[in-house]
Amino acid sequence: MNQTNLIKSGLTAPNRPVDPILGSTEKVISSTNSLYRLVSLSKEIKNGNTEIAAVKKVWEQSLQQLDSSNAVEVKERMIAALDTLQNQPTIYKIYISLLDKATTPEALAKCAKKFIKDIASLNTFALVKTTLGANGPTHIVGYSRFCTKSIFAARRDYVVKWTNWNEIHSSHLYETLTQNLPHGNQVPLFCVPKTAALDFDKQIHEMSDGTQIPLEQETTCHLKQSFLATAGENNSSSDTQIAFFEKINGTNLFEFVHTKYRDLDSSQKEILFEKIGQLTLLDLLLGNPDRLFRTKYNAKTNQYQFDIRVANLGNLMILWDQDSSDEDEDLFELYAIDNSIDSSLITNENQKAAYKQFLQNTLTSDGMESLADVIISFLRESLENKVPKTQSSRARTNRKVAVDNNKKVGRDPRQMVCNLFLQDLKDEDIAKPALIKGLCKMLETLSLSLPGFWESEQALNIKNYLKQSHPALLDAISERFEIFSKRG
Ligand SMILES: Nc1ncnc2c1ncn2[C@@H]1O[C@H](COP(=O)(O)OP(=O)(O)OP(=O)(O)O)[C@@H](O)[C@H]1O
Ligand SMILES: [Mg+2]
Repeated sequence: MNQTNLIKSGLTAPNRPVDPILGSTEKVISSTNSLYRLVSLSKEIKNGNTEIAAVKKVWEQSLQQLDSSNAVEVKERMIAALDTLQNQPTIYKIYISLLDKATTPEALAKCAKKFIKDIASLNTFALVKTTLGANGPTHIVGYSRFCTKSIFAARRDYVVKWTNWNEIHSSHLYETLTQNLPHGNQVPLFCVPKTAALDFDKQIHEMSDGTQIPLEQETTCHLKQSFLATAGENNSSSDTQIAFFEKINGTNLFEFVHTKYRDLDSSQKEILFEKIGQLTLLDLLLGNPDRLFRTKYNAKTNQYQFDIRVANLGNLMILWDQDSSDEDEDLFELYAIDNSIDSSLITNENQKAAYKQFLQNTLTSDGMESLADVIISFLRESLENKVPKTQSSRARTNRKVAVDNNKKVGRDPRQMVCNLFLQDLKDEDIAKPALIKGLCKMLETLSLSLPGFWESEQALNIKNYLKQSHPALLDAISERFEIFSKRG
């Protein structure tokens, strides 16, 4: 793929709202260009590459000497230095193309600075592919970058994922409900990472507030090629949307219960289980069976039931900052990630009606104790003798063998931490009462506040957004929310 003509700004909209992950559409384009250059550099540069260091030195000197009278001469010197990199063809092509286009001293200076900043960013650059999951692959990008306005390098940390609109729309819905439903002194109840998106078919950049910026054809093509080149591994060709998520500095629940859980005190354990209960109740209402429970639809009886099998502990993240600046309290937050509403519960009328009935039977105050048991069964099923879905199949096989071997002699430290969690699940005084408390609190919040909120002005933004972008989802959840109106 010829990626040397890097993306040019293709904005056609006059107003440019900023999204909090990468910023304006121009920023998305320039960050994507940087990502492409950094991936190429990190692939081609070997440790301590002296040729690159020599080019950097010449370009730094050129930058200092550059003035309006010597641009041609300086450019020649820069080209001559770059020529030594011809055995690293991608890197060479990227920077020679930038250099070729630079005709003024300002453009040359910009080009030199870009190269110098790229080399500096490389020291901290990481692109981690996290999973072979259903929608992904999910890539986590992180690096520091110097900018002209500050002497300090700024961090760029974000998550890139090939996905579909369902996940993006659902994510906005979770975010709105989480922020707007009252939750006593727990602020917030749980969090949802901010989301922005690119759609290569519709040719748009959607900001995290839902504003859409049209992209030009050429820009769209370049963006798509860049993502295929940098984060495209395992991408199925049908994926035409990229989502950007705010990066959470936490661990997913699977990792958490194998590592950090050991260090929680009893009140933190209570908060954890309480929040798990609250989130699960919301998942149940919205129809997202891809976190801590699964459901099964029986077409013959037209009924839903829980389907106890492995849940997806990768879709809940825990941010626990033991070194938080607040002296009295650790920062302890739950993040709902990878939020998608089951598509049958959006479009299939029979299934929607059956699910509503299932909710009406399940979401009663008497039903919360058995719901806590259901969550415990799913957690146990997912952890006892199981290995994470978030690892490759070979890694999973190897790990299973290692876990089985270590278990025989009882020395796998991760398993020991997990056993603690499993014990707490069984202990009648720890997990279950906190889960029931969380479930009951959420049931009360939804019963008392959801109908009012859904009819209020605060809900207009999300309703208008969904009406335009995903009306079937709006109808489906509005119908499910009626369960609470009727009760009220
Ligand atoms: N915003 C984020 N910040 C930090 N890490 C994240 C973020 N999103 C995802 N991850 C990490 O990547 C993992 C996989 O992410 P995600 O669930 O979005 O991918 P997926 O491909 O849909 O996975 P699966 O199909 O297995 O659910 C998560 O378990 C988490 O460890
Ligand atoms: Mg997931």
